Amino acid sequence: MRHGDRTALVTGGASGIGLEIGRQLADRGLRVLVGARKREAAEEACRTIGPAALPLTLDVTSATSVDEAVREARDLTGGVDILVNNAGVSLDGELRPPYLDEEILRATLDTNLTGAWRVAEAVVPGMVEAGYGRVVNVTSSYGSLSLMDSGRRPAYRISKAALNALTRMLAAELAGTGVLVNAADPGWTRSGMGGPSAPRGPEEGADTPVWLATLPEGDGTTGGLFADRRPLPW
Ligand SMILES: NC(=O)c1ccc[n+]([C@@H]2O[C@H](COP(=O)([O-])OP(=O)(O)OC[C@H]3O[C@@H](n4cnc5c(N)ncnc54)[C@H](OP(=O)(O)O)[C@@H]3O)[C@@H](O)[C@H]2O)c1
Repeated sequence: MRHGDRTALVTGGASGIGLEIGRQLADRGLRVLVGARKREAAEEACRTIGPAALPLTLDVTSATSVDEAVREARDLTGGVDILVNNAGVSLDGELRPPYLDEEILRATLDTNLTGAWRVAEAVVPGMVEAGYGRVVNVTSSYGSLSLMDSGRRPAYRISKAALNALTRMLAAELAGTGVLVNAADPGWTRSGMGGPSAPRGPEEGADTPVWLATLPEGDGTTGGLFADRRPLPW
């Protein structure tokens, strides 16, 4: 199957790194479902990407929204071959452990961990059935346990460490099915989250997620964490 016959779903695809991931996937000949909470934002993003992009209303914190979006994706394209779990939030204030803001922790996990899991649960069975799939979880070096040298941004970092754990488990469960699951750190990138003074542009931030999303048939790369296309310590 050529790239052009495949469909990629990018969550949080209407802005920042997600929008650029969609653009680069479309450049590689893929059909791209741009998932966004606001329909108009998804539609606007699709206009900038081009005819290969289709809008999808998708709030990853809502099981109903995920179900409806995946049903719509099936109607529009027959299914999702590639999932880029890009949607993410960074909500921490100045509190550091041992101080805990439960509301922030819960909301952060609901998007960054459970949201990615929800969407994977909805699309991975179809990938297994097809014998082909790519799942890319957009994580952060802030989630690397080996780099946990302070209590800064605890909810965000714990959510990404947990997303990394999910990546390992999902990859292990899917070994031999044709579905490859990896985590990608985009690096500090200019976006709503990264701010205007980050050293990287979205093109660079999107590069590793796009590389993992388009691993060729027969490639066995799975269960890994990568930055700049190189392994990053967990
Ligand atoms: N920028 C960096 O320096 C950096 C570094 C490491 C990792 N990352 C990761 O890269 C990913 C993309 O972030 P970004 O830098 O591009 O930030 P961003 O510009 O803030 O984009 C985040 C995207 O996630 C979407 N989103 C948030 N909650 C959602 C929900 N419940 N359902 C669906 N979409 C939701 C946002 O949509 P709305 O417009 O509706 O809010 C937005 O499109 C995130 O996972 C982030 O953790 C970023």
